[in-house]
Amino acid sequence: MLLLSLLISTSNYVGAERCQSCHPQAFQTWQQSAHARAFEGLQTDQKKQTRCTVCHTLTPDDLSQPLAGVQCESCHGAGRYYSPHYVMKDKELARAVGLVVPNEQTCKRCHDGSAPNIEPFDYAKAWARIAHGKQ
Ligand code: HEC
Ligand code: HEC
Ligand code: HEC
Ligand code: HEC
Repeated sequence: MLLLSLLISTSNYVGAERCQSCHPQAFQTWQQSAHARAFEGLQTDQKKQTRCTVCHTLTPDDLSQPLAGVQCESCHGAGRYYSPHYVMKDKELARAVGLVVPNEQTCKRCHDGSAPNIEPFDYAKAWARIAHGKQ
Protein backbone atom coordinates (compact mmCIF):
# COMPACT_ATOMS: atom_id res chain seq x y z
CA MET A 1 0.00 0.00 0.00
CA LEU A 2 2.76 2.42 0.94
CA LEU A 3 4.65 1.67 -2.27
CA LEU A 4 1.49 2.12 -4.30
CA SER A 5 0.76 5.53 -2.82
CA LEU A 6 4.37 6.59 -3.39
CA LEU A 7 4.09 5.57 -7.05
CA ILE A 8 0.86 7.50 -7.43
CA SER A 9 2.17 10.66 -5.81
CA THR A 10 5.41 10.56 -7.83
CA SER A 11 3.64 10.08 -11.15
CA ASN A 12 1.63 13.27 -10.63
CA TYR A 13 4.77 15.31 -11.31
CA VAL A 14 5.57 16.08 -14.94
CA GLY A 15 8.88 17.98 -14.58
CA ALA A 16 10.00 21.44 -15.72
CA GLU A 17 10.63 20.37 -19.34
CA ARG A 18 6.90 19.88 -19.82
CA CYS A 19 6.13 23.36 -18.50
CA GLN A 20 8.86 24.75 -20.76
CA SER A 21 6.93 23.86 -23.90
CA CYS A 22 4.33 26.55 -23.10
CA HIS A 23 6.23 28.77 -20.63
CA PRO A 24 9.67 29.20 -22.25
CA GLN A 25 10.49 32.45 -20.45
CA ALA A 26 9.56 31.20 -16.99
CA PHE A 27 11.65 28.13 -17.74
CA GLN A 28 14.68 30.17 -18.76
CA THR A 29 14.50 32.29 -15.60
CA TRP A 30 14.15 29.17 -13.50
CA GLN A 31 16.98 27.33 -15.24
CA GLN A 32 19.36 30.18 -14.42
CA SER A 33 18.30 30.28 -10.77
CA ALA A 34 19.77 28.53 -7.75
CA HIS A 35 16.55 26.50 -7.50
CA ALA A 36 17.35 24.54 -10.66
CA ARG A 37 20.70 23.48 -9.15
CA ALA A 38 19.51 22.86 -5.59
CA PHE A 39 19.87 19.08 -5.87
CA GLU A 40 23.11 18.82 -7.82
CA GLY A 41 24.71 21.14 -5.25
CA LEU A 42 24.36 18.48 -2.55
CA GLN A 43 27.12 15.97 -1.90
CA THR A 44 26.55 12.33 -2.86
CA ASP A 45 25.66 11.16 0.66
CA GLN A 46 23.42 14.19 1.25
CA LYS A 47 21.45 13.35 -1.92
CA LYS A 48 20.21 10.22 -0.14
CA GLN A 49 19.16 12.01 3.03
CA THR A 50 15.51 12.99 3.29
CA ARG A 51 16.45 15.72 5.78
CA CYS A 52 18.16 17.47 2.85
CA THR A 53 16.09 16.40 -0.15
CA VAL A 54 12.86 17.56 1.49
CA CYS A 55 13.86 21.13 0.55
CA HIS A 56 16.50 20.57 -2.15
CA THR A 57 14.50 18.58 -4.68
CA LEU A 58 10.92 18.16 -5.90
CA THR A 59 10.31 14.77 -4.31
CA PRO A 60 12.55 12.39 -2.38
CA ASP A 61 10.70 9.55 -4.16
CA ASP A 62 12.24 10.29 -7.56
CA LEU A 63 15.74 11.76 -7.65
CA SER A 64 16.20 11.44 -11.41
CA GLN A 65 17.34 14.49 -13.37
CA PRO A 66 13.96 15.48 -14.89
CA LEU A 67 12.52 16.07 -11.41
CA ALA A 68 15.70 17.26 -9.68
CA GLY A 69 16.01 20.54 -7.81
CA VAL A 70 13.42 23.04 -6.59
CA GLN A 71 11.11 22.73 -9.60
CA CYS A 72 8.13 24.64 -10.99
CA GLU A 73 5.96 22.06 -9.26
CA SER A 74 7.67 22.62 -5.88
CA CYS A 75 5.83 25.94 -5.85
CA HIS A 76 2.95 25.48 -8.32
CA GLY A 77 1.83 21.99 -7.29
CA ALA A 78 1.97 18.67 -9.16
CA GLY A 79 1.15 19.34 -12.80
CA ARG A 80 -0.20 16.12 -14.20
CA TYR A 81 -3.83 17.23 -14.20
CA TYR A 82 -3.50 20.98 -14.77
CA SER A 83 -0.78 21.03 -17.46
CA PRO A 84 -2.95 20.04 -20.46
CA HIS A 85 -3.70 23.14 -22.53
CA TYR A 86 -7.48 23.12 -22.16
CA VAL A 87 -7.12 22.96 -18.38
CA MET A 88 -4.47 25.67 -18.18
CA LYS A 89 -6.68 28.10 -20.09
CA ASP A 90 -9.41 27.68 -17.46
CA LYS A 91 -8.13 29.32 -14.26
CA GLU A 92 -10.78 27.81 -12.05
CA LEU A 93 -10.42 24.31 -13.40
CA ALA A 94 -6.62 24.50 -13.21
CA ARG A 95 -6.79 25.44 -9.53
CA ALA A 96 -9.40 22.76 -8.86
CA VAL A 97 -7.03 20.05 -10.14
CA GLY A 98 -3.93 21.21 -8.31
CA LEU A 99 -2.47 24.46 -9.66
CA VAL A 100 -1.11 26.56 -6.81
CA VAL A 101 -0.61 30.30 -7.16
CA PRO A 102 2.27 30.61 -4.71
CA ASN A 103 2.84 33.34 -2.17
CA GLU A 104 5.23 34.17 0.64
CA GLN A 105 4.03 31.22 2.73
CA THR A 106 5.00 28.85 -0.11
CA CYS A 107 8.58 30.09 0.08
CA LYS A 108 8.71 29.86 3.84
CA ARG A 109 8.10 26.14 3.73
CA CYS A 110 11.79 25.93 2.82
CA HIS A 111 13.15 29.41 3.54
CA ASP A 112 12.63 29.08 7.24
CA GLY A 113 14.97 29.67 10.15
CA SER A 114 16.88 26.45 9.44
CA ALA A 115 18.15 27.53 6.01
CA PRO A 116 21.80 28.60 5.96
CA ASN A 117 21.36 32.32 5.65
CA ILE A 118 22.16 34.89 8.31
CA GLU A 119 19.69 37.42 6.93
CA PRO A 120 15.99 36.74 7.53
CA PHE A 121 13.99 35.85 4.43
CA ASP A 122 12.77 38.97 2.60
CA TYR A 123 9.99 37.98 0.18
CA ALA A 124 10.12 41.09 -2.02
CA LYS A 125 13.88 40.86 -2.48
CA ALA A 126 13.86 37.10 -2.97
CA TRP A 127 11.02 37.21 -5.49
CA ALA A 128 12.82 39.91 -7.48
CA ARG A 129 15.66 37.42 -7.99
CA ILE A 130 13.43 34.72 -9.46
CA ALA A 131 10.57 36.83 -10.90
CA HIS A 132 8.78 35.32 -13.90
CA GLY A 133 5.28 35.42 -15.34
CA LYS A 134 3.05 35.66 -18.37
CA GLN A 135 4.95 33.28 -20.67
C1 HEC B 1 0.12 22.97 -23.13
C2 HEC B 1 0.63 24.25 -22.68
C3 HEC B 1 0.92 24.43 -21.21
C4 HEC B 1 1.67 23.61 -20.39
C5 HEC B 1 2.34 22.29 -20.73
C6 HEC B 1 1.72 24.29 -19.11
N1 HEC B 1 1.03 25.46 -19.17
FE1 HEC B 1 0.76 26.78 -17.63
N2 HEC B 1 -0.47 27.91 -18.79
C7 HEC B 1 -0.76 27.65 -20.12
C8 HEC B 1 -1.73 28.64 -20.57
C9 HEC B 1 -2.30 28.72 -21.99
C10 HEC B 1 -2.01 29.46 -19.47
C11 HEC B 1 -2.99 30.63 -19.39
C12 HEC B 1 -2.28 31.87 -19.78
C13 HEC B 1 -3.19 33.06 -19.68
O1 HEC B 1 -4.39 32.91 -19.92
O2 HEC B 1 -2.68 34.13 -19.35
C14 HEC B 1 -1.19 28.99 -18.36
C15 HEC B 1 -1.17 29.56 -17.10
C16 HEC B 1 -0.32 29.17 -16.08
C17 HEC B 1 -0.20 29.84 -14.80
C18 HEC B 1 -1.00 31.05 -14.36
C19 HEC B 1 -2.32 30.50 -13.90
C20 HEC B 1 -3.23 31.49 -13.26
O3 HEC B 1 -4.42 31.16 -13.25
O4 HEC B 1 -2.82 32.53 -12.76
C21 HEC B 1 0.74 29.16 -14.08
C22 HEC B 1 1.20 29.48 -12.68
C23 HEC B 1 1.20 28.06 -14.91
N3 HEC B 1 0.55 28.11 -16.11
C24 HEC B 1 2.16 27.16 -14.54
C25 HEC B 1 2.48 26.01 -15.24
C26 HEC B 1 3.37 24.97 -14.76
C27 HEC B 1 4.07 24.98 -13.43
C28 HEC B 1 3.43 24.01 -15.74
C29 HEC B 1 4.16 22.68 -15.69
C30 HEC B 1 3.81 21.80 -14.59
C31 HEC B 1 2.59 24.46 -16.82
N4 HEC B 1 2.03 25.67 -16.49
C32 HEC B 1 2.41 23.78 -18.01
C33 HEC B 1 -0.24 26.64 -20.89
C34 HEC B 1 0.51 25.58 -20.43
C1 HEC C 1 13.90 23.61 5.54
C2 HEC C 1 14.45 23.49 4.19
C3 HEC C 1 15.88 23.05 4.03
C4 HEC C 1 16.45 21.89 4.49
C5 HEC C 1 15.80 20.78 5.30
C6 HEC C 1 17.84 21.90 4.02
N1 HEC C 1 18.07 23.04 3.28
FE1 HEC C 1 19.83 23.57 2.42
N2 HEC C 1 19.01 25.36 1.86
C7 HEC C 1 17.70 25.72 2.05
C8 HEC C 1 17.49 27.07 1.54
C9 HEC C 1 16.19 27.82 1.55
C10 HEC C 1 18.74 27.50 1.05
C11 HEC C 1 19.05 28.85 0.44
C12 HEC C 1 19.37 29.83 1.54
C13 HEC C 1 19.59 31.19 0.97
O1 HEC C 1 20.61 31.42 0.34
O2 HEC C 1 18.72 32.04 1.16
C14 HEC C 1 19.67 26.39 1.26
C15 HEC C 1 21.01 26.42 0.88
C16 HEC C 1 21.86 25.35 0.99
C17 HEC C 1 23.20 25.31 0.46
C18 HEC C 1 23.89 26.43 -0.27
C19 HEC C 1 24.53 27.27 0.78
C20 HEC C 1 25.25 28.44 0.26
O3 HEC C 1 25.80 29.14 1.09
O4 HEC C 1 25.25 28.66 -0.97
C21 HEC C 1 23.74 24.07 0.76
C22 HEC C 1 25.12 23.54 0.42
C23 HEC C 1 22.71 23.35 1.50
N3 HEC C 1 21.59 24.15 1.61
C24 HEC C 1 22.87 22.07 1.99
C25 HEC C 1 21.91 21.40 2.74
C26 HEC C 1 22.12 20.08 3.32
C27 HEC C 1 23.42 19.29 3.23
C28 HEC C 1 20.96 19.73 3.95
C29 HEC C 1 20.67 18.48 4.78
C30 HEC C 1 21.53 18.26 5.89
C31 HEC C 1 20.02 20.85 3.77
N4 HEC C 1 20.65 21.83 3.03
C32 HEC C 1 18.73 20.89 4.26
C33 HEC C 1 16.71 24.97 2.62
C34 HEC C 1 16.90 23.76 3.27
C1 HEC D 1 10.22 29.15 -5.95
C2 HEC D 1 8.84 29.07 -6.34
C3 HEC D 1 8.52 29.06 -7.81
C4 HEC D 1 9.10 28.29 -8.78
C5 HEC D 1 10.25 27.29 -8.64
C6 HEC D 1 8.42 28.60 -10.00
N1 HEC D 1 7.44 29.55 -9.78
FE1 HEC D 1 6.15 30.31 -11.13
N2 HEC D 1 5.50 31.68 -9.78
C7 HEC D 1 5.87 31.70 -8.46
C8 HEC D 1 5.24 32.86 -7.84
C9 HEC D 1 5.41 33.29 -6.38
C10 HEC D 1 4.49 33.50 -8.85
C11 HEC D 1 3.67 34.79 -8.72
C12 HEC D 1 2.28 34.46 -8.31
C13 HEC D 1 1.45 35.72 -8.29
O1 HEC D 1 1.52 36.44 -7.31
O2 HEC D 1 0.78 35.98 -9.28
C14 HEC D 1 4.67 32.73 -10.06
C15 HEC D 1 4.08 33.02 -11.28
C16 HEC D 1 4.12 32.19 -12.41
C17 HEC D 1 3.39 32.39 -13.63
C18 HEC D 1 2.55 33.60 -13.95
C19 HEC D 1 1.21 33.64 -13.45
C20 HEC D 1 0.56 34.90 -13.99
O3 HEC D 1 -0.55 35.15 -13.60
O4 HEC D 1 1.19 35.64 -14.78
C21 HEC D 1 3.67 31.35 -14.47
C22 HEC D 1 3.15 31.10 -15.87
C23 HEC D 1 4.62 30.51 -13.77
N3 HEC D 1 4.87 31.04 -12.52
C24 HEC D 1 5.18 29.37 -14.30
C25 HEC D 1 6.30 28.73 -13.75
C26 HEC D 1 7.07 27.72 -14.43
C27 HEC D 1 6.78 27.17 -15.81
C28 HEC D 1 8.08 27.37 -13.58
C29 HEC D 1 9.24 26.41 -13.82
C30 HEC D 1 9.98 26.55 -15.07
C31 HEC D 1 7.91 28.14 -12.36
N4 HEC D 1 6.83 28.96 -12.51
C32 HEC D 1 8.71 28.03 -11.23
C33 HEC D 1 6.70 30.81 -7.82
C34 HEC D 1 7.48 29.86 -8.45
C1 HEC E 1 11.00 23.35 -1.92
C2 HEC E 1 11.84 24.28 -1.18
C3 HEC E 1 11.88 25.72 -1.61
C4 HEC E 1 10.81 26.57 -1.87
C5 HEC E 1 9.32 26.26 -1.78
C6 HEC E 1 11.39 27.85 -2.22
N1 HEC E 1 12.75 27.78 -2.21
FE1 HEC E 1 14.06 29.25 -2.71
N2 HEC E 1 15.63 27.99 -2.41
C7 HEC E 1 15.53 26.69 -1.95
C8 HEC E 1 16.85 26.10 -1.86
C9 HEC E 1 17.16 24.69 -1.41
C10 HEC E 1 17.76 27.09 -2.28
C11 HEC E 1 19.28 26.96 -2.35
C12 HEC E 1 19.68 26.33 -3.65
C13 HEC E 1 21.20 26.14 -3.70
O1 HEC E 1 21.91 27.15 -3.69
O2 HEC E 1 21.63 24.98 -3.75
C14 HEC E 1 16.95 28.27 -2.61
C15 HEC E 1 17.47 29.47 -3.09
C16 HEC E 1 16.73 30.60 -3.38
C17 HEC E 1 17.27 31.83 -3.87
C18 HEC E 1 18.74 32.10 -4.17
C19 HEC E 1 19.41 32.57 -2.93
C20 HEC E 1 20.80 33.04 -3.21
O3 HEC E 1 21.41 33.54 -2.26
O4 HEC E 1 21.28 32.91 -4.33
C21 HEC E 1 16.22 32.71 -3.99
C22 HEC E 1 16.29 34.16 -4.44
C23 HEC E 1 15.02 32.00 -3.60
N3 HEC E 1 15.37 30.71 -3.25
C24 HEC E 1 13.74 32.55 -3.60
C25 HEC E 1 12.56 31.85 -3.32
C26 HEC E 1 11.24 32.42 -3.36
C27 HEC E 1 10.92 33.86 -3.67
C28 HEC E 1 10.38 31.41 -3.07
C29 HEC E 1 8.87 31.45 -3.01
C30 HEC E 1 8.18 32.08 -4.13
C31 HEC E 1 11.17 30.21 -2.84
N4 HEC E 1 12.49 30.53 -2.98
C32 HEC E 1 10.63 28.97 -2.54
C33 HEC E 1 14.37 26.02 -1.63
C34 HEC E 1 13.09 26.51 -1.82
